[in-house]
Parts: sequence; structure tokens; C-alpha cells
Amino acid sequence: MKAVIFDLDGVITDTAEYHFQAWGSLAAALGIPFDREFNEQLKGISRTESLDKILARGNLSEAYTDEDKQELATRKNAEYQRLISAVTPSDVLPGIKSLLTELHDAGIGIALASASKNAAFILDRLELTRYFDSVVDVTAIRHGKPDPEIFLTGAANLGVQPADCVGIEDAQAGIQAIKGAGMFAVGVGTPSQMQGADIVVASTAELSLSMLEEHFCEFTK
Ligand code: BG6
Ligand code: MG
Repeated sequence: MKAVIFDLDGVITDTAEYHFQAWGSLAAALGIPFDREFNEQLKGISRTESLDKILARGNLSEAYTDEDKQELATRKNAEYQRLISAVTPSDVLPGIKSLLTELHDAGIGIALASASKNAAFILDRLELTRYFDSVVDVTAIRHGKPDPEIFLTGAANLGVQPADCVGIEDAQAGIQAIKGAGMFAVGVGTPSQMQGADIVVASTAELSLSMLEEHFCEFTK
């Protein structure tokens, strides 16, 4: 195991909840049903793809011009940014800070592979930026999750082979991306949400360097 590539929202901090709330407000304003089960499909995918799925759910795909859609996505992002402006280092999920410290001390590469254009801001708010050897620039990625491109770019940025990487995700699209990249996939959530993951943890509190190395060695044996 030479590198660990992290998703952000829902893995490092619980901003997946804020995405849910911000989309929920927009969906309510548009009269579109919105719940946690449907929200699972939005995890890991881009802002515009999320909006398209929400509008399709309300049979409103044809009801808005591209300009209107741009305005709706901006409205969601404004609400999301209002919510994340209050993020502090105390919002780092359990086990993550100690895992980052262990990885750093062991000389294992650390990268961020987030679909969010707000990722760098959130890492700064959490005071975690210094742990990351690479934060993949999502604006330079052509194919979003479930395509493996963002994880492959993270590995390339670190100068390691994908087969030597562990990816950690809370989204079905993210697990597919990690496996498509040929990496070991750790899912955070329930086994039914994390289909295809090599191991699933219910909480980030279960993650540690020794735990990851043990499972990774077992997998590559
Ligand atoms: C991902 C989230 O990390 O980022 C998605 O899981 C979100 O829910 C996507 O849509 C894009 O985020 P942003 O901040 O650019 O709208
Ligand atoms: Mg996520």
C-alpha cells in the first residue's frame, strides 16, 4: 500500500449531509419529491448531473432552459456555501485525523479525489490541507465518477501505480470509480449502499493504518 486516495464529502467530514439539505430545499421549492434514498444516487456526482437527476424525477427536464438550470445550480450552491461556512476542525469525522497522521508519518501518499468545486475551501476550514500531497483539480477532469479518471489522476499525481492504492468512498459512484481504476476500495456506509467495495465500514472511526494494511495485504495475496 503506497497511497490512500480519499473522497471528501461523507468520508472526511459530513458535508454529504449539507449537500442533501441544500438539494432538499431546492427540490421543495420546485415541488419535486426528495428523500434520503433518492439522495444516494446524487452522492459523488457533479452539481449539474445532480440537478439533471432531480429535474428528471419531477418530470421537469424539459421545463427549464440551460440558463435557468445554471441559475438553479447556483442557487443550490449558495445555500450549500452558507452551510459549509460554519465548518470547523471539530467537524472532521472520527478516526480521519489520526489516519492522516499515521499515513503521513509512514510516508504513504495522500490524495483527495473529490467531485466538489468547494473541496479546497472545506479542507482549509478543517485545517487538513497540509496532509494532502495532491488535491485533484476537478475542473481538469473530463469524466466524473463513476469513471475512474479522478482516482487515476490522484495516483498519477502521487507517482504510484493504481494497484498500490487504496480508495475510500461513501458513494456508489465512487466505489465504481475506485474499482474501475484497479484500486482496493473501502466503502463507508452500509453493504447495500457500498456494493462492489472490497471492505465496508459503518463508521470512519474503524479506519486506521494497520487496519487498511491488513485488509490490503489480504486482498493482494
Ligand atoms: C461530491 C458530492 O463530493 O461533490 C456531490 O458527493 C456533489 O453530492 C459534488 O454534488 C459536487 O459538489 P459541488 O460542491 O461542486 O457542488
Ligand atoms: Mg462522498
